[in-house]
Amino acid sequence: MWRWALLAVAAADDAVKIELTEAAASTGAVCLDGTPAAYYLEKGSGDGINKWYIHHEGGGWCESLDDCLGRSKTDLRSSKAYPERRTLYGGYFSRDARENPLMHNWNMVFMTYCDGGSFSGNNQTVTVYKNQSLFFRGKRIREAIAEDLMEKRGMKEATDLMVSGCSAGGLATFLHADQWCDRLHADKPSAKCAALPDSGFFIDNQDPSVKCAPWSPGLLGETINGNYHCGLKWTFWIQNATAGVEQKCIAAHPGQEWQCMFAEHAAEHIGTPLFALQSEYDSWQTSHVQGPGGVRKTQLLGKNITQRILTSLLGRNPKSGAFLDSCHHHCAAWNSIRIDGDLVSTAVEKWYNGLDQRDNKRLWEQNQPFPCEECCKPDFQQPSQLIV
Ligand SMILES: *[C@@H]1O[C@H](CO)[C@@H](O)[C@H](O)[C@H]1NC(C)=O
Ligand SMILES: *[C@@H]1O[C@H](CO)[C@@H](O)[C@H](O)[C@H]1NC(C)=O
Ligand SMILES: *[C@@H]1O[C@H](CO)[C@@H](O)[C@H](O)[C@H]1NC(C)=O
Ligand SMILES: *[C@@H]1O[C@H](CO)[C@@H](O)[C@H](O)[C@H]1NC(C)=O
Repeated sequence: MWRWALLAVAAADDAVKIELTEAAASTGAVCLDGTPAAYYLEKGSGDGINKWYIHHEGGGWCESLDDCLGRSKTDLRSSKAYPERRTLYGGYFSRDARENPLMHNWNMVFMTYCDGGSFSGNNQTVTVYKNQSLFFRGKRIREAIAEDLMEKRGMKEATDLMVSGCSAGGLATFLHADQWCDRLHADKPSAKCAALPDSGFFIDNQDPSVKCAPWSPGLLGETINGNYHCGLKWTFWIQNATAGVEQKCIAAHPGQEWQCMFAEHAAEHIGTPLFALQSEYDSWQTSHVQGPGGVRKTQLLGKNITQRILTSLLGRNPKSGAFLDSCHHHCAAWNSIRIDGDLVSTAVEKWYNGLDQRDNKRLWEQNQPFPCEECCKPDFQQPSQLIV
């Protein structure tokens, strides 16, 4: 008897694959290699049954055609090898109320990433390269998932929606937060809708010493450090992503629409309340965005990220906030960093629950010089707290 109980618990913890076979045929919601897109769903419980957490998976971008083809070695290009079920793990997906006080019993959606462009692409033309077909259809995938959730899975009844993701999925969160919330509000105007991008505030930076090399061959993760501006601009162009990103940003940047592929330019136009989890010395950005150079350059990167979060995000949206830490990391810092006495999960909960209050705390800022290994530990006390 006890065995069955354990099995039932294990099965309930598994997310089930939903393959978008119909949408693949009718709207072209397909992965880079043309296989149908898919996502995973794990049902909520208790007072979480009408609350939804939606996570865009990360995994860089394809920044050259070789890169796009090279992804074939991974699930980032194809749904062929997606398992029927998978276990969602890590902070935001945790079913433990101590680890995840806000969302532990919510419905959880894991959007697998196979489009190479942060769920933004909409290129009708199939690219043929080295005798293989490449499809750039991330916008269609995101929209197909939204329709499936709304029409078939009960998201129409949602009282709460948190749009999220890490890395390239964090960028997707910036780019699509308004699209998600607008779609939900069309059916359920009273729903509370917010966004939680993790490590997605990639700055628009081209290192002056690095030549713009948009077509530089390179496989996943092998992008040239300092070439981010040119690399992502190419991604925007090849993917025909204009209609897939934040539309208020597009309207504000005629002729320079590519800017809206970058979080720092999109951020100032986002109407959805958004809480950015971000390291000012993001470790992916130190090795891919900042360009060659040592500690001094990383401190400059930190100043740039901090200043742009404060101006283009907090300065433009009175509800948006950030958990801005000084630990050298990228993603995966749920509850390992403490600022102003709060771990990430507690800060998220306080910010979200206080959204209707006028004096809601918005900024948790660690504000330490680079490098700060102690910043990565939950028992680290900020010097300012000791002085008080
Ligand atoms: C590019 O996207 C626009 C929507 O912004 C669409 O009208 C156009 O047909 C697309 N072009 C291609 C080649 O897919
Ligand atoms: C779409 O893909 C085709 C084929 O690779 C490419 O020529 C075109 O520039 C891409 N972008 C747009 C906006 O059509
Ligand atoms: C390209 O692919 C087609 C069909 O997939 C095949 O018939 C053809 O031989 C291939 N050409 C080359 C140069 O590999
Ligand atoms: C920081 O911003 C300045 C001014 O925009 C720019 O010149 C510099 O390259 C940036 N550096 C880094 C590492 O972000």
